Amino acid sequence: MRDQPLTVLGIETSCDETAAAVVRCTADGARIVLSDAIRSQVDEHAAFGGVVPEIAARAHISILDRMIETAMSEAGVGFEDLDAVAATAGPGLIGGVIVGLMTAKAVALAAGKPLVAVNHLEGHALTARLTDDLAFPYLLLLVSGGHTQFLLVEGVGAYRRLGSTIDDAIGEAFDKTAKLLGLGYPGGPAVERAARDGDPARFRLPRPMLDRPGLALSFAGLKTAVRTAAYEAAPLDAQAVADLCASFQAAVTDVVGEKSRRALAAFAEAHPDTPPVLVVAGGVAANTAIRARLDSVAHDAGARLVAPPARLCTDNAAMIAWAGIERLRVARARGEILDDRDAAPRPRWPLDDTAQAAYGAGRKGAKA
Ligand code: KG4
Ligand code: ZN
Repeated sequence: MRDQPLTVLGIETSCDETAAAVVRCTADGARIVLSDAIRSQVDEHAAFGGVVPEIAARAHISILDRMIETAMSEAGVGFEDLDAVAATAGPGLIGGVIVGLMTAKAVALAAGKPLVAVNHLEGHALTARLTDDLAFPYLLLLVSGGHTQFLLVEGVGAYRRLGSTIDDAIGEAFDKTAKLLGLGYPGGPAVERAARDGDPARFRLPRPMLDRPGLALSFAGLKTAVRTAAYEAAPLDAQAVADLCASFQAAVTDVVGEKSRRALAAFAEAHPDTPPVLVVAGGVAANTAIRARLDSVAHDAGARLVAPPARLCTDNAAMIAWAGIERLRVARARGEILDDRDAAPRPRWPLDDTAQAAYGAGRKGAKA
């Protein structure tokens, strides 16, 4: 399909990554990440075992202008070459969201360009179209430090949340388990490393929500079960820590695997004539055990598993720029002008809200 080319600057500040990127969609539909600047705040938060909102907001303020400068110069474009500025307007830590959105508004205003206020989850949801040119519809499993949910992605702005966690996100459960066992932050990679030498059958941990139908998930109880098991086995030697990590990871893997099987069945019911595709995104997608289970679940369901490269499926600004491009293309096709210049930053913003126009009804829900 020939279209007008679009070049968009994206800005992401909703958690602990300060990122700016320039993405272009050419007239013949090719997608090019012209630049993708990112700085993680892991060092600032490591001492606290998790992200501290106030520290995150201050770190975004001190570095965002330089990240934008870097993204623009690496892309080799000037502000006059942009078609729009896209920024995450939520959901996320509100201090950081305010910094990114207000900066984007200032840049857009000064450059005389429209602003696209992007839902961070929409950024994750559409990334597979940037990286793999995927057609709608597909199933998305988003598993990160802040989010755990299954989404039916049926079009730009047409998202149906099939199920999500009712308490902690999976990454958060990994981080809290690591903190409890003294393994440092971020916890996911540390737990996975420790689990390699562990016995997953030594500790009998629960598989929360598997006994109930549906796609809701829960990880708070599992985290508590790890704490109880750790106290009972104390003092912990290296083998006990490894066994606890392996047992925890096995429980999470069982839950994610079974829920994914059910989600693929729900996809097949909603779209019986579409070859099923399961896209996995978020930092937890890096976990080898979880990835292997998803592979086998997808295989059993006759589905293709698509996992965008880690750099683009964890938090980044290219996905925000790309979501901006997708929304601009839809607006243009409808003959509408898109400019969210008066958008407000939102700590909570369920993706289904965005779907109101497509579905006629939105649903409020937990951030995760
Ligand atoms: O997507 P992401 O980079 O940032 C957001 O949370 O938005 O995800 C980070 C999360 C952290 O909770 C981290 O512990 C987890 O992903 N994570 C992992 C692994 N690598 C990162 N969890 C399990 N296994 C891993 N290998
Ligand atoms: Zn994210």
